[in-house]
Amino acid sequence: MVENGVTASIVEALAGKRIFLTGVTGFLGQVILERLLLDFPETHTTLLVRGQTAASAEDRVRYLLRKPAFAVLRDRHGEDGLAALLQERTTVIDGDFSRRVPDLPGGFDVAIHSAATVSFDPPIDEGFQTNLLGAQNLYRGVLAGGSRPHFVHISTAYVAGVQKGVIPEGPLEHRVDHALEADLALRARRDVESASRKPEMLQRFMDDAGKEHSRAGPSTVSGDAEERRKAWVDRRLVEYGRMRARTLGWPDAYTFTKALGERAVEELTAEEGVPLSIVRPSIIESALEHPAAGWIDGFKMADPIIRAYGLGQIPEFPGIPEGIVDLIPVDYVVNAILAVAANPPAAGEAVHYNVSSGSRNPLRFFELYELVREYFETHPLPERGRGEHKVPTWEFPGNMKVDAMLRRAERFTDVAEKVVTHLPKSKAMRDAVTSVDRDKARVDFVKRYSELYGMYTETEVVYTDDRVVALFGSLTEGDRERFPFDAGTLDWRHYLQDVHCPAVTQSLRELSRRDREKPTVRLERRDEPVLAVFDMEGTIIQSNVVESYVWTRFADLEPEDWPSELLSVFGRVPGYLQTDRRDRGDFLRTFFRRYEGASVERVDALIASHVGEFMLQKAFPGAIRRVREHRAAGHRTVLITAAARPFIEPLAPLFDLVIGAELEVREGRYTGFMSAPPLVGEARAAWLRRYVLQEGVDLKYCYAYADSYSDLPLLRAVGNPVVVSPDSALYRHARRKRWPIEGWGMSKGMPKVRFPKAAVR
Ligand SMILES: NC(=O)c1ccc[n+]([C@@H]2O[C@H](COP(=O)([O-])OP(=O)(O)OC[C@H]3O[C@@H](n4cnc5c(N)ncnc54)[C@H](OP(=O)(O)O)[C@@H]3O)[C@@H](O)[C@H]2O)c1
Repeated sequence: MVENGVTASIVEALAGKRIFLTGVTGFLGQVILERLLLDFPETHTTLLVRGQTAASAEDRVRYLLRKPAFAVLRDRHGEDGLAALLQERTTVIDGDFSRRVPDLPGGFDVAIHSAATVSFDPPIDEGFQTNLLGAQNLYRGVLAGGSRPHFVHISTAYVAGVQKGVIPEGPLEHRVDHALEADLALRARRDVESASRKPEMLQRFMDDAGKEHSRAGPSTVSGDAEERRKAWVDRRLVEYGRMRARTLGWPDAYTFTKALGERAVEELTAEEGVPLSIVRPSIIESALEHPAAGWIDGFKMADPIIRAYGLGQIPEFPGIPEGIVDLIPVDYVVNAILAVAANPPAAGEAVHYNVSSGSRNPLRFFELYELVREYFETHPLPERGRGEHKVPTWEFPGNMKVDAMLRRAERFTDVAEKVVTHLPKSKAMRDAVTSVDRDKARVDFVKRYSELYGMYTETEVVYTDDRVVALFGSLTEGDRERFPFDAGTLDWRHYLQDVHCPAVTQSLRELSRRDREKPTVRLERRDEPVLAVFDMEGTIIQSNVVESYVWTRFADLEPEDWPSELLSVFGRVPGYLQTDRRDRGDFLRTFFRRYEGASVERVDALIASHVGEFMLQKAFPGAIRRVREHRAAGHRTVLITAAARPFIEPLAPLFDLVIGAELEVREGRYTGFMSAPPLVGEARAAWLRRYVLQEGVDLKYCYAYADSYSDLPLLRAVGNPVVVSPDSALYRHARRKRWPIEGWGMSKGMPKVRFPKAAVR
């Protein structure tokens, strides 16, 4: 900025200015604020932040100060000093500009609009609502407050769309009617929502939810069906966005809505006669120097791929090896934005800046690959307990071959998936599930990222940055040193190998240490009552209701009658299994009919004399130990089971409370009916909730142990869920949630049972 023939520093140019800033809780916005607070002492910044349910806008800004981006300021001022500085130099306004911009004060000299929906594939209405309609709302709100500021609109270099060749720093050439597109995007939400409510669609969601959750109970099924409906709506709106973008020449809904957003604000500022600068960074990555070398907030575009590559998970990736991957460190972008802010164009004019590296310092895709590979070869990622990850060599075989590889891998994992879900419960099943999940995650990852970013690694475009270079050249020498943004000077080897890769892989190195620590159960002694709830079959003992029946029945039959009884029970096993898979309650109802006419006294006697001992021998020693440990910790132990009451008696002394199925009795004999619905699936969680309410117990501190996915509602109800020798679905869930997984194993040797010879009936 030239004043009286002397170039002023940008700090001087912005001195005394009132700045309005959005997006401060985001990656870029927080460093803009940090830099303003650190180096522009005579500025005042008003922040527009949307509050959340648990945190007001002001809370969110205060929380920001604890983040690593503010470490330099914290060191300089101390925590209290920084809070005071924030109080003095900023004003926070709560607002969500996509919905309604609150009344804004006047007097802003500069308005930096950094906030946006940055996801590449947002649902189409969300993209328009924020990046176009939201930006219009915001600019109108600022003008309505009486300010006539220099608007600095943060856009992206990729608004240029799927063009090839050189992209200049100027307005985009397209004739898309942004008002019509925005209107139809909002209407798409209504259309898709109503399509998702058609009976045949709802039936599909119910059927799919039923396949997975019918054993847990009807409300789990309906809850899941509604989640599936919402996910379908989102996916569909993402498709609307992606396809509409592609038909008009943009790779995705993000760049499409940002491009139309640019046009909308250009029109608005021209009409209002206020200056507009549009800053278009390319792919923003970690800081080269400020606020710290390698500083990054979350993982950005290239980072998930770099990390997965370092873990040896990406054998190939689509993309043109000589295509330019246009990266730019976040501090360069922030410095450029501040220099732009200090240099407004004339009123009513719009100027465009490409903050990018591809034109003067191109980093080709294969160079990026080689530098990253070298980094991992010298600094491999540790593999959990097994040495180090080896990184694959990419051949760049072309997109068609990569696609074919992905399709093959997908077919393979689909078949493997079907096999493992039907394997019986065992350690081998759990290993197989882990390995299939890992393969599936790899394939899904490469597929998703090559779909999302394929177009960015195939680009044959170069964003010229002559205006940015001229701006940089116009700065004072001091500013050029203090606020560098000349991408021509970036040393990619140093940036990638010494700064960026170490930063984005640090958490993986820490994670692998943490990962080795398996989630474990910790028994806490507390003053208030704590429950430890145990499922029985498959958790405490290996037996199930069919087996208990068979043992009791055999105990009572002459050996010559065993084969016919065996045939009768096992002939029905497939039918029982099918019913059990669909609805455990129905299975129990059907099965307990076999007790019709059995003498209560006789069954009790048989259990007491023979079957009880057998069941105790079938109990897992680890289970019994754990129940005792809970008792020793002062916890109340509860056994909850679908087994009929008499069969639980042998285990009853271990527990403070035993809840089982009650069989109806008439004149000393079982009728074959149950006297109350069986406690399975959600009914267990419902029972537990009612019980803790009566007893004044806080579920947060309680424990539950179970082995089957149908017990998910019970496990979810407590603060300390533990899965024991789980089935494949529960094993997956537990791994995702990092719940402890225990295998209590069998007691050694087969139990010996002596059979009496007397009739049950
Ligand atoms: N990251 C990149 O590689 C890249 C590259 C080129 C250009 N850009 C551009 O740079 C800008 C900043 O990107 P970023 O990476 O910092 O994004 P980010 O980390 O996702 O942050 C987005 C910010 O926008 C805020 N926001 C979104 N919708 C809002 C609304 N309706 N009302 C109020 N605040 C809202 C978010 O607030 P909440 O915390 O409340 O969600 C957050 O503070 C964007 O304009 C983006 O297009 C980014």
